Amino acid sequence: MAPETKTFDVYGNTQSLDEPIIEAVATRLETRGKHPSFQRMLHEYLDFMNIDSVGSVLDLGCGTGFATREIAKRSDFKGHVTGIDISSPLIEQAKKLAGEEGLDDRAEFQVGDSRSLELSDNSFDVVIAHTLISHLPDPDTLVEEMKRLVKPGGYIGIFDGDYASLTFSHPDPKLGKAMDELIIQSIVTQPRILRQLPLLLANAGLDFEKAFSNVVSDVSKADFWASAVESMRKLLPAAKAMTAEEADAWANARNRESEDGTFFASSNYYSYVARKPGAH
Ligand SMILES: C[S@@+](CC[C@H](N)C(=O)[O-])C[C@H]1O[C@@H](n2cnc3c(N)ncnc32)[C@H](O)[C@@H]1O
Repeated sequence: MAPETKTFDVYGNTQSLDEPIIEAVATRLETRGKHPSFQRMLHEYLDFMNIDSVGSVLDLGCGTGFATREIAKRSDFKGHVTGIDISSPLIEQAKKLAGEEGLDDRAEFQVGDSRSLELSDNSFDVVIAHTLISHLPDPDTLVEEMKRLVKPGGYIGIFDGDYASLTFSHPDPKLGKAMDELIIQSIVTQPRILRQLPLLLANAGLDFEKAFSNVVSDVSKADFWASAVESMRKLLPAAKAMTAEEADAWANARNRESEDGTFFASSNYYSYVARKPGAH
């Protein structure tokens, strides 16, 4: 199980992934996005920011555009959403899905690096980053860029997993802990970033408004985490954490636990809402 080369965060390196891995990423993002727990956590902070009353929203690290489309689909939302992601294939999928859902007039997508965007200062009413910050080696740069792009008085929303808390069942506690660590290294760069976010927001001169905390856990049978287990078959080998055979064996064991009613998986999630000082 010990990797010979350094394990890396697949989601933080989407610009260099092969097509089958991008497909596995896209499938996981879309399946996760449709899950009621994930929908509830998104709309919880969107509601707090009164998203329906604003004209322009920027969604950074939009992937296949799940959150961008969710905003555009809200029945009372009359504004426009721009989704930006570093991966061209994911942006192509986002455009296709938005087109199929009839959202082209309310949602647009662009390829871009959230650390250096060619967008004017103070140009959006709301800027969100939905599960982006944990993938960046320089998360403070994202917070600064969000502050630059949002209008004075506007909201920024940062949501992500507190992936240092991510854990899966395993019959052997020692091996289970080692597996959890390999999984975390394969899917995030900053597993503890949400614990540092109050400091990052303060350092950026943003006014903290609200944090929502959630636990997403499946006990006995896999539900939310079932698609994560399936995605690991491809992502763990792609991240150089283990061989395809080892990843299959791990995923098969979790699926058997789910069938037997002995499955367990859990992670904490947090949404932070902050405001840029000034009158809107
Ligand atoms: C876990 S996915 C989240 C996607 C989407 N927001 C969602 O919740 O379904 C992280 C996304 O961040 C993107 N990403 C990683 N680094 C980025 C960067 N520097 N600039 C823009 N996007 C980036 C990846 O391509 C990937 O789509």
